[in-house]
Amino acid sequence: MRPHHIRDVLFTADQIERRVNELVDEMASACRTDNFVMIGILRGSFMFLADLVRDLYQHDVHPRIDFVTLESYYSGTESSGAVHVAKDISMDISDATVILVDDILDTGRTLSFATKHLLDKGARSVRSCALLDKPSRRVVACEADFVGFKVEDYFVVGYGLDYDSHYRELPYIAKVMFT
Ligand code: IMP
Ligand code: MG
Repeated sequence: MRPHHIRDVLFTADQIERRVNELVDEMASACRTDNFVMIGILRGSFMFLADLVRDLYQHDVHPRIDFVTLESYYSGTESSGAVHVAKDISMDISDATVILVDDILDTGRTLSFATKHLLDKGARSVRSCALLDKPSRRVVACEADFVGFKVEDYFVVGYGLDYDSHYRELPYIAKVMFT
C-alpha cells in the first residue's frame, strides 16, 4: 500500500474536456499568426497540451510545438524555491507568438521564470495557459492569461499532475490524502 491515496475527484474527464473546449474557443483568435508556437512545461503539461492542440486543429490553428523541462520541486509537495532549466526547447522562437502551457500555477515561480526565459530567447510575445490555478499559494506576482479551473489549496493529481511521479495517467483530477 502506498502511504497516500486518492480522494475526492475534483474534475471528471468530461468536465475537463468541456473546459478545454471553452479555453480553446477563448484562445483561438490569439493563435492566428504566422509564427505561432506552443510550449509545454514538462512534465505536468503533456496531457493538457495534447488536448489543447487537437482542439485548436478543429479551429484551423496549426502551432509548432516544443517543450521545456523546468525543475523546482523536490520529491514530495514542497518546492525548493529555485527554478532551473533541466532541458531547454530545441527550436528557434525568434519573433514567435508563444503560448506557454503549464499544469498548475501555484507559487507562480515556474510560470514567471518560464515567461522571462522565452522572452530572453527572442519570442515576440509570451502568453500563458494554466490548467489549474491556486491563487492562495502565490509568492511571485504572476497570472496566467488563460486558466482552466481555480482550485483551493489542496495537493491535486491526475491529467498530467503527479505526486512523486505517480498518478499522471489518471484521466481525471483528484485530491491526494496523506495518511
Ligand atoms: P510554482 O512554481 O510553485 O507555481 O509550481 C508550479 C509547479 O509545481 C507545477 O508545474 C507542478 O509541477 C507543481 N505543483 C504545484 N502544485 C501542485 C499540485 O497540487 N499537484 C501537483 N503538482 C503541483
Ligand atoms: Mg510536478
